[in-house]
Amino acid sequence: MSSAKPLASTPPMGWNSWNMFGSSIHESSIRETADALASSGLRDLGYAYLVIDDCWSVKAARDSDGNLVADPAKFPGGMKALCDYVHDLGLKIGIYSDAAEKTCAGYPGSLGFEEQDAKLWASWGFDFLKYDYCSAPDDQAVARERYGDMGAALRATGREFLFSLCEWGGRAPHLWGREVGAQMWRVSGDIFDSWINVWVPHGHGYYGLGVDVSLDIANDLADFGGPGGWNDLDMLVVGLKGKGSVSGGGLSFLEYQTHMSLWCIACSPLMIGCDIRKMDTETAFLLTNTEVLAVNQDPIGKPARRVVRQGTCEIWRKPLADGSVAVALINRGSSGSDVSLRSSDIGLLDTRKQVRDLWKQEEIADLERQTTLRVQPHETILLKITA
Ligand code: GLA
Repeated sequence: MSSAKPLASTPPMGWNSWNMFGSSIHESSIRETADALASSGLRDLGYAYLVIDDCWSVKAARDSDGNLVADPAKFPGGMKALCDYVHDLGLKIGIYSDAAEKTCAGYPGSLGFEEQDAKLWASWGFDFLKYDYCSAPDDQAVARERYGDMGAALRATGREFLFSLCEWGGRAPHLWGREVGAQMWRVSGDIFDSWINVWVPHGHGYYGLGVDVSLDIANDLADFGGPGGWNDLDMLVVGLKGKGSVSGGGLSFLEYQTHMSLWCIACSPLMIGCDIRKMDTETAFLLTNTEVLAVNQDPIGKPARRVVRQGTCEIWRKPLADGSVAVALINRGSSGSDVSLRSSDIGLLDTRKQVRDLWKQEEIADLERQTTLRVQPHETILLKITA
C-alpha cells in the first residue's frame, strides 16, 4: 500500500490477533507475525496493518494517572518498542479498545478517557484503532456519540489513525460511520470458521456467523461501501482450519475460497486471522492470488451485488475500473450444479468477450451470449470478463 494514497482509498488489508490468539497474545508472537508479514510477501501484496485486538492491557485497572497499562507479562518490551519494530519492517500497527467501561473480554474500555487514551496510543506510535461496543447501550444515538467522541480524540492527536468501528451492524453504522471519522465498520457479529451459524455457549450464549449468511449481509449493504469507508465483513477465517478463538469446526478448501472471493468482491477489509508464521500452501494460495486481490483493491471500490439466482446458485457482479466486470458464480447448495451465465445478466453487450478464471489465472472461454459452468457445492468461481 503506497503511503501517498488517501487513507483507506481501497479496503484496508492486514492481520488481526483475535481469531487465532484470542487473549493469549504475546509480544514475541506479534513480532514473529510482523516478520512473517514481511518475509512471506504478504506485506508487499498490501497486507499492511498488524492489529493487536482485545486483552493487551492490565485487566484489573488503569494506573494511578488513569492511563491504560500494557500488560508487562504479555508486552515486556513495552508498546513503543513494539510499534518501532513493526514500523521498521514497513508495516503499520493497530490497537483495540471499547466504547464503554469494559471491553468484550472485560479489560478497561475507553469511555470517559477518549482523549487520554488516543494520546497514549499516538505517543506509542499506533496507526489504527479497532473500537468495539461491548457493555454499551443498544441505541444508535449513544453509539454515534461515543464513536464520534473517539473519532474526535484520534483527530486531535494530529497522528493519522485508521478508525475501525465494531458495533456489529446493529445500529446501521454504514449510515453514519463516515460522519464519526471511521474508514471501516463491522456489519455483522463475529464470523466463525464454519459454513453455517454456530451456537457459542459463552455468557448467555450467542450465534457465531457462518460464511453462508455473510452473502446476504454483503448484498444488502453493497451500496454503502466505497473509497474511504468500507463495510467490514469481519476478519478472515482462511487458514484457521478449526484452530483459534472462532472455531466452528473449520471450512473446507472450497468454502475458504468462497469466503475469500466474497470478501474480495464485496470490498471488505482483508484482515487475516490465522497464524501466518506457519502458513501451508493452501492458505498461501488463498491469501496471495494477485488477480483476486486486485478485485478487492480495484480503485473504483464498488462492492458487488447479486444479479441472478439459479436454484442454489447465485451470480454476482462487480464493476471494475477498466470497464471489465468481476463475476462470481456461487453455489450455496450441497450438490454440484451447472450455472448458465448470460451476457445480459452481467450488463455486457452480446459481443465477444474474454473470460478469465481468476483463481486459476487462466482464460477459460469466450462468452458471446451464454456459457455454462459447473460449480461444486459451496464453491465460488471468480471470473473477470473483458469486453
Ligand atoms: C468482539 C469483536 C471481536 C473481537 C472480540 C474481542 O466480539 O466483535 O472481533 O474483537 O470482541 O473480545
